[in-house]
Amino acid sequence: MIGESTVQKPDPQHIGIIMDGNGRWAKQRGHSRPRGHKEGAKATRTIIDACQDLGIRYLTLYAFSAENWNRPNLEVRALMELLELFLARETKTLVKRRVRLHAIGRIDELPTSARKALEKAIEATKEFDDWHLTLALNYSSRNEVLDAAKAFAQAVARGEISPDTTDWGDFSKHLDTAELPDPDLIIRTSGETRISNFLLMQSAYAEFYFTETLWPDFDKEQLEKALSCYRNRERRYGKTGEQLATHSSTAQSNPLQPSA
Ligand code: FPP
Repeated sequence: MIGESTVQKPDPQHIGIIMDGNGRWAKQRGHSRPRGHKEGAKATRTIIDACQDLGIRYLTLYAFSAENWNRPNLEVRALMELLELFLARETKTLVKRRVRLHAIGRIDELPTSARKALEKAIEATKEFDDWHLTLALNYSSRNEVLDAAKAFAQAVARGEISPDTTDWGDFSKHLDTAELPDPDLIIRTSGETRISNFLLMQSAYAEFYFTETLWPDFDKEQLEKALSCYRNRERRYGKTGEQLATHSSTAQSNPLQPSA
């Protein structure tokens, strides 16, 4: 049948997750919001392991947005403490599992102790290349693009690059994600269907999966459900279904992706 491919579609290489619903999970149980985040951190550990078990090399987690500073002070402090605790506990496991940790966002604006814990964990895992975990912290896609544009303009002023010959591949080297491939699949939990300033540029050709499940309840089975849904998608990158059917081996690889 035209448009039907018999080629096994590959799993995503890179998944980005908007981990939403910790607050509602806590509220439903009469707990405080920080308790919800603590349960959310447990789900985070489960999903990091599950991604590796399922062969997904890149996982990017939206752990704290630039807009999250607007939350009550107590909650912001609890989230920063949780981040430090998470790094203190998980770095050993990341090293054991040979997972390289990255961070995107304005990291220099994090509280000093959280920033130091993060830098220490990044340093401890920097030799690894097979598996990549990226934490988006104090992250805003718009800020990222703004910072990239400034860096790009400075490079032009120094005469290092010419705007006339610049393509997306050249410009994207100034994004925080320069070392990462674009995400193939973006998951958001908790029933919200927004992208909330997460990887706006990088997700240009990503598939989206939204689930009602609250983040603390998201587990390996839920992840497998998202993967199974992803496998049923046809990624066309502007081509027609018929074109993909005749060149089915290229159907799932992103021709627009600059080399990471
Ligand atoms: C959104 O849920 C979640 C966050 C703002 C924080 C995400 C943090 C974690 C999952 C735990 C910590 C993770 C690491 C890596 C240390 P929400 O609070 O907005 O939920 P709600 O919409 O139900 O209120």
